[in-house]
Amino acid sequence: MKSVRFAVTALSLVMLCLDVIAGAEIEMPGDAETKVPTPPPVAAQTCVACHGEAGASTNPIYPILAGQNMRYIYLQLKDFKEGRRSDPQMSPMAANLSKEGMLALATYFSEQPPPPNVFNADASKAAKGKQRADDTLCTMCHQGSYQGQNEIPRLAGQHFDYIKKQLVDFKNKTRTNDAGNMTSVSGTLSDEDIENIAHYLAGM
Ligand code: HEC
Ligand code: HEC
Repeated sequence: MKSVRFAVTALSLVMLCLDVIAGAEIEMPGDAETKVPTPPPVAAQTCVACHGEAGASTNPIYPILAGQNMRYIYLQLKDFKEGRRSDPQMSPMAANLSKEGMLALATYFSEQPPPPNVFNADASKAAKGKQRADDTLCTMCHQGSYQGQNEIPRLAGQHFDYIKKQLVDFKNKTRTNDAGNMTSVSGTLSDEDIENIAHYLAGM
């Protein structure tokens, strides 16, 4: 018994040391100064009308782009341009973008700080939404904190109306640009589940 406990303590110590080393690496002096922010591409001016200043949308029907993952933004612009995803307002916006233009926009928006979260989540719905999301293993792809990764979108703090619409669109197969991952997941969700999950994610 004692030796097991010792092994566990030793392991914790090693992990603590690793944490300290990792922490030290992250906080190297000079890092803050060397990071040059990406200037807004000229095309970003046209996005402001709907997605807000620097992508920090405050209108719940327009998704927040600020802080969204770079690869995900790029892929969505490409999908809108090539018709795999369509929306009467958004499709024309992507139609004339070049690959370089889309990459520049994606990089710029991904580096902007997301707006402060002002959504007033219903606590009981959000708790049910969390339960349903945990049961459905949403975090397997979207990560524990719902920050996403690469081509998987960040969902934490995204607008309630927008999240709800996307889940309904995936479920009704009117959004089909996801290689089937989201279509099969959303097919198992009831309207109530979708409402609850949207409260949970928008309130994060
Ligand atoms: C006229 C309004 C409008 C303008 C201007 C506009 N968009 Fe959009 N955009 C939308 C709407 C509406 C959606 C959501 C469509 C849907 O419901 O599927 C959207 C969705 C998106 C998405 C997908 C986000 C996600 O989370 O999946 C990206 C990326 C995007 N827009 C980028 C841009 C960029 C970059 C520009 C500027 C070049 C731009 N938009 C200009 C209305 C607009
Ligand atoms: C197998 C991986 C996977 C699982 C599991 C998964 N997702 Fe997704 N989800 C994705 C991918 C990939 C996309 C982006 C699809 C695309 O490229 O259009 C996405 C997109 C979304 C979007 C649209 C976001 C936006 O900005 O437009 C929402 C909302 C979403 N997922 C919610 C959920 C919820 C809620 C669950 C659990 C019930 C879930 N996802 C489970 C992979 C997954």
